[in-house]
Amino acid sequence: MIEQPAAIVTGASRGIGRAIAIEMAGQGYAVAVNYLRSQESAAEVVEQIAATGGRGIAVQGDVGLREDRDSIVDQTLGHFGRIDLLVNNAGITSPGRKDLLEATEENWDVVFDTNLKGAFFLAQRAANEMVGLIETAAISRGTIVNVSSISAYAVSTNRVDYCIAKAGIQMMTLLLASRLAEERIRVYEICPGVIASDMTAPVTEKYDKLIADGLSPIRRWGQPEDVAKAVATVASDAFPFSTGDRINVDGGFHIRRL
Ligand SMILES: NC(=O)c1ccc[n+]([C@@H]2O[C@H](COP(=O)([O-])OP(=O)(O)OC[C@H]3O[C@@H](n4cnc5c(N)ncnc54)[C@H](OP(=O)(O)O)[C@@H]3O)[C@@H](O)[C@H]2O)c1
Repeated sequence: MIEQPAAIVTGASRGIGRAIAIEMAGQGYAVAVNYLRSQESAAEVVEQIAATGGRGIAVQGDVGLREDRDSIVDQTLGHFGRIDLLVNNAGITSPGRKDLLEATEENWDVVFDTNLKGAFFLAQRAANEMVGLIETAAISRGTIVNVSSISAYAVSTNRVDYCIAKAGIQMMTLLLASRLAEERIRVYEICPGVIASDMTAPVTEKYDKLIADGLSPIRRWGQPEDVAKAVATVASDAFPFSTGDRINVDGGFHIRRL
């Protein structure tokens, strides 16, 4: 058991998860940097954390698979002896971005396994570990942060599986927050807008134009670091009497305008 708090960040080899892992290391957390395939990128994140005096480990695992989720948690506990924070960030967009009338069950299954089922059951496993650690006073409280999307409420008819899974993250957050409050675990949903990453790279031109035309009141691309700062804030003691909240990190996209 180490003195410093420990975090699991899923999908931390690239993009938003990478920024979250580096930010949380900077906040004093030992970080389990989860990835699916990008071993080298995950190793670089761990190196960057070490270069600034932090502590990190790379942990391979598909969040959609139970044995891999168990391995992520077991390796984190094996190295750090504790879990104070879980950030459910790993996610994929809808493969092929097929129109609603062409959407396939195969794509639905892979998107739901990664973006919703994996997030819930990893939260369940992590929460059970946190409860035990809180009971033994090994940690004082736990935090779970779920990364959703503006696609939870803004329709894209060529990404139905992604939108429905992200909408599910909101209810999942409310359910976890409601049940886990008595266990001294707080739960939040971070709702990013258009963020520059590999996920949005194929649609750069489309979003360049939309942003220039005023898609969000703050007319710029979001950066992974914008999301990371929000995660660090909810994981801190800044909101001790809040749980279940959605934090928008979207340049004001969610505001209905006339
Ligand atoms: N970018 C945006 O505009 C935006 C907006 C709203 C919400 N989001 C959400 O933010 C999160 C991160 O998005 P991003 O833009 O940073 O994506 P990204 O650049 O495509 O990175 C995705 C990350 O998730 C990992 N991953 C994918 N499938 C996984 C699995 N089954 N198990 C474990 N890890 C897996 C990838 O690992 P490998 O490197 O090994 O493949 C990678 O680290 C996602 O949940 C996404 O839906 C993004």
